[in-house]
Amino acid sequence: MNLPEEAIAKSCCADLYQSDLARMILGDTLHPGGMALTNRLGRMMGIQPGDWVADLACGRGTSAMAVSRAFHCKVVGIEFGSGAAAEARASALEAPIRSETFFVRGDAEQPPLRSSVIDAVLCECSMSIFPDKPSAVKQVKGVLRPGGRFGLSDVTVEPGSLPQGLNNVVGQVLCLADALSVAGYENLLTHGGMKLQHQEDASDEIINLLDDLAGKLGMILAWQKVSQPTLAADQDWLRDAPDLITEVRQLVTDGKLGYWLFVAEKPA
Ligand SMILES: C[S@@+](CC[C@H](N)C(=O)[O-])C[C@H]1O[C@@H](n2cnc3c(N)ncnc32)[C@H](O)[C@@H]1O
Repeated sequence: MNLPEEAIAKSCCADLYQSDLARMILGDTLHPGGMALTNRLGRMMGIQPGDWVADLACGRGTSAMAVSRAFHCKVVGIEFGSGAAAEARASALEAPIRSETFFVRGDAEQPPLRSSVIDAVLCECSMSIFPDKPSAVKQVKGVLRPGGRFGLSDVTVEPGSLPQGLNNVVGQVLCLADALSVAGYENLLTHGGMKLQHQEDASDEIINLLDDLAGKLGMILAWQKVSQPTLAADQDWLRDAPDLITEVRQLVTDGKLGYWLFVAEKPA
């Protein structure tokens, strides 16, 4: 991808995730496993009170705020979507329980942070979307202090496993289109100069998410049938979505698709 194409892809992705449709389907947490999985990753990363944490591609800031409260740390969230970044800022101000969070509209692949100052970097369900993953890991290593930890959770797709029909909005919502295999993420981290410390399979969370998604899509389709009997051209994917969800579920069961947590350390 050349640079203008990359910028367009990032804007489209940000527009999709801050859309009402994504909110209706996914809620405020835009990754499998919700806050329970985020906190599990935070514990694996050993986040300490007072740490400075960066949440790359933070969406509406739900994880950043939860991590700040759970681990008593300060979190800087970086998000490409201006609407999502603004919502994150507003939510942090309005939340009944205070969090030490700061939100910046920016490119997580070029985080606007000083080098070697961050104790821990979190990146949930977003590395799979970044067009230049090795460069993103290089940037993560750059902002981390020596001994700092990188917690990555993401969709994994074993080579050649993705069905053709997932090259659409459902594939994008599920972060499948450009995801790596388990070995692919391991190589990405180690070739990026990080020391891999832990990894865990959390693929069951995809099954839970798919079940939830299937229920919500069923309701959307039923409502659509009553209110607007013919699907608009840009809603065609809705008709195929239930079959695709069944197909993806089978891929998870077969071990071809999953969701994994990785923690790697910047060598001291
Ligand atoms: C699947 S959502 C995950 C959001 C959040 N990390 C979470 O788990 O709830 C992916 C997010 O990445 C953002 N994004 C994609 N590319 C980005 C980039 N280069 N810089 C910053 N944000 C980006 C999208 O706008 C979207 O909010």
